[in-house]
Amino acid sequence: MAISSLLAVGGIAAVLKSITNPASPSATSGSSEFPRVKVAQLSALQVGQPVAFNYPLDDEPNILVKLGVKASGGIGPDGDVVAFSSICQHLGCIYAFQTAGSSPACNSSYKADRPVGYCCCHGSVYDFTNAASVISGPSPRPQPQVKLEIDNSGDIYAVGMGPPTIFGHETGSNDVSADLQGGTPVG
Ligand code: FES
Repeated sequence: MAISSLLAVGGIAAVLKSITNPASPSATSGSSEFPRVKVAQLSALQVGQPVAFNYPLDDEPNILVKLGVKASGGIGPDGDVVAFSSICQHLGCIYAFQTAGSSPACNSSYKADRPVGYCCCHGSVYDFTNAASVISGPSPRPQPQVKLEIDNSGDIYAVGMGPPTIFGHETGSNDVSADLQGGTPVG
């Protein structure tokens, strides 16, 4: 192979490596490379009524909700506002939020005993009061939690993602820098 061809191959490999293995040690800790975008206003939130927004890429759904009970990672004066990726960690369906005492449309025999995410594809249930940990069903891991901040006016911002990575982004990894690959960040 000619030297010029070898250089071309090497250049392509370097580009591919930079895409698939970005050198971004700070990204694993959270917010420094994630966009900071307003996603809600505290005064507009009603307990148990979720708000949908896309983050960190412009086509990736998340759900934000004021639970009415203090929650792990919750923000706001009551520590009860949380947000999670809506893409189920089992096989990538979009799950829905259920208030305590409610049943999903797909399973009237199930009644939530706390605020949960319920995936109608295969029945995974995520505890929204406890960092979306798995209560039951086939999901192998919790839902990624959106890192939120609130300012003095009550504006709520998404500023990063906690592990694990969003389904479809090196699924099962804790390197959240992968969440920023493969699409266009919001902003
Ligand atoms: S995709 Fe959600 S439980 Fe299977």
